[in-house]
Amino acid sequence: MGKFDGASWSIDDIPYGEIAHDRVRDDRQLFYIVASASFIEITSDLYTQNLIEFFRHDAEIAEWLAHQWEKEELQHGAALKKYVQTAWPDFDWEAAYANFRRDYGATCTVEGLAGTKALEMVARCVVETGTASFYRMLSDISPDPVLSRLATEISADEVRHYKHFHRYFRRYRDVEKPSRFAVLRTLVGRAAEVEAGDTFHAFHAVFRGSHPGVEFERADYDAYRDGVLNLVRQYFPHGMAVKMLLKPLGMSPMVGRAMVPAVKQATRLFLRRYDNAA
Ligand SMILES: [Fe+2]
Ligand SMILES: [Fe+2]
Repeated sequence: MGKFDGASWSIDDIPYGEIAHDRVRDDRQLFYIVASASFIEITSDLYTQNLIEFFRHDAEIAEWLAHQWEKEELQHGAALKKYVQTAWPDFDWEAAYANFRRDYGATCTVEGLAGTKALEMVARCVVETGTASFYRMLSDISPDPVLSRLATEISADEVRHYKHFHRYFRRYRDVEKPSRFAVLRTLVGRAAEVEAGDTFHAFHAVFRGSHPGVEFERADYDAYRDGVLNLVRQYFPHGMAVKMLLKPLGMSPMVGRAMVPAVKQATRLFLRRYDNAA
């Protein structure tokens, strides 16, 4: 895949040939994290259509969503897929993903949108904060420099997505004038629901693909979830997440300080998403 217009990096920039195979080959937790992320990102096309539809009257936003944002999310999926296929070649990515897409795609109803365009932009800021923080964490904990590099590129994309959504939020805020309470409620509400279901379904599909003939049990997921929660407790970039979540509230430093506890609660909800799943 070459570089598409406006992209800051392409899959060809990632030195897959230099993967430190001896450091990742037996790391099952890392395998599950990266394979699950590849499934979720590469399925972005299922979630983007209703958002593009919601903003079809705003040419600039509709254009950016369709030609930049969606393409970048799909590139995240393609780049992570190539990493999984190179680092863990025994895993049949295509077959496992076909199961994920069939089972999850069938149950995946159109994602609920927030009540207004300004509030939907707040919700999008929350989602991008979650992914930007997640990839920052993955970059920090990765034992392989190639995966660190890839996760850094993806995290930077997610931060750029956040900046676009934040700018569009301000545009609609000036028109719709949502109350600060409505913004805060959207922010905390969306943080609680981010990707909980996706995470479980992706793990399930990766497990089945890597354990042919073995019955999946809830305990397998619970063990994985506990391991990830441990990582998250130690390595999640809370400062970054809190800063990003506070911005849409756009407040004077004094009011901002009063909001910090609620926003901290919202970042904790990201971490609990594994608990909420399924
Ligand atoms: Fe992404
Ligand atoms: Fe993104």
